[in-house]
Amino acid sequence: MFNEPAPDRQILARAAAATQAGHMLDSDTERRRWRLRSMENAVERLYGHHDPAASDSHDGYLNFGLWEDGIADYVGAAENLVVRMGDLLELGPGSRLLDAAAGRGTQDFALLRRFGPLEIDAVDVTWRHVEAARSRARSFPGPGTVRFHHASATRLPFGDRRFTHALCLEAAHHFDTREQFFAEAYRVLAPGGRLATADFALVRPLGHGWRRTLFDGVCAIWSVPSANADTAASYADKLARIGFRDVRIDVVGAQTFPGYWREQRRAERRREVLRIRGRLGAALGTAMNYGLFKLYDLGCVEYVLVSARKPGDGSSEHTG
Ligand SMILES: C[S@@+](CC[C@H](N)C(=O)[O-])C[C@H]1O[C@@H](n2cnc3c(N)ncnc32)[C@H](O)[C@@H]1O
Repeated sequence: MFNEPAPDRQILARAAAATQAGHMLDSDTERRRWRLRSMENAVERLYGHHDPAASDSHDGYLNFGLWEDGIADYVGAAENLVVRMGDLLELGPGSRLLDAAAGRGTQDFALLRRFGPLEIDAVDVTWRHVEAARSRARSFPGPGTVRFHHASATRLPFGDRRFTHALCLEAAHHFDTREQFFAEAYRVLAPGGRLATADFALVRPLGHGWRRTLFDGVCAIWSVPSANADTAASYADKLARIGFRDVRIDVVGAQTFPGYWREQRRAERRREVLRIRGRLGAALGTAMNYGLFKLYDLGCVEYVLVSARKPGDGSSEHTG
């Protein structure tokens, strides 16, 4: 469906050079300090609020949920989305999974319960999320293995070709940049490895005018770099430029935005958010959620489930 240009060697070379520089070792990383003006720092400030009750809110999930028939509650929808991503990846016992931006880790335990003994390395830039995930891990009986690292998806602390699968569930819009993450995912995937993302995409490029202003406002509150304002077509082009093949994009906004917005408007949920985030945080969250829902309702933004494959040995794959 999409053209298949040669892998973007410049982006891949940058990722490889960063690894060789020695700050990306296969180790369990401790807390990092992000540069003050970095996107990682902005994101950590956005998500790293202090109330300990936040960790258990929505069972730790931070995704929009996939509200298909028969699903009536938020956690059911959130878990349904996680399982759909596992199906897209074709996970199975023995898979070595990179989870880029795992949040509080709830999704990894759901994957382990559903798909059996996987080996998961999960990264997130928000230290409080890593702490919450590690604390959950202590009471998880298995099967499988999961390690949580404080690290950025755009500078992964892992060697080349280590994983069979890579997942990014509702976070690549924050990355500086999404394309840099694609290069990193390509680098750490073994030949034949699969990538799946749940993400946001523009329906068409936005011109000027109030829709653009609304979009820019949501991106500013939500720490989304302008480089990530992709349509489905430019999203697929970026993946193909890096070297990914078999790019598939499913558009599922109707099963995500309305259900999530309904959930956020529930009186009990509103009270919970107010308790956790305070008046200002709750007001900003509502403005952002409403703005995003409105952009969907106006036909500007969609929710997409994306899958792609790194070519296997013997095809046109990148060799560094
Ligand atoms: C909307 S939440 C989704 C979390 C989780 N995947 C879920 O669905 O519950 C976005 C997450 O992305 C993380 N994040 C943002 N930028 C990141 C980066 N560059 N590297 C790793 N994690 C990042 C945030 O800390 C946050 O946990």
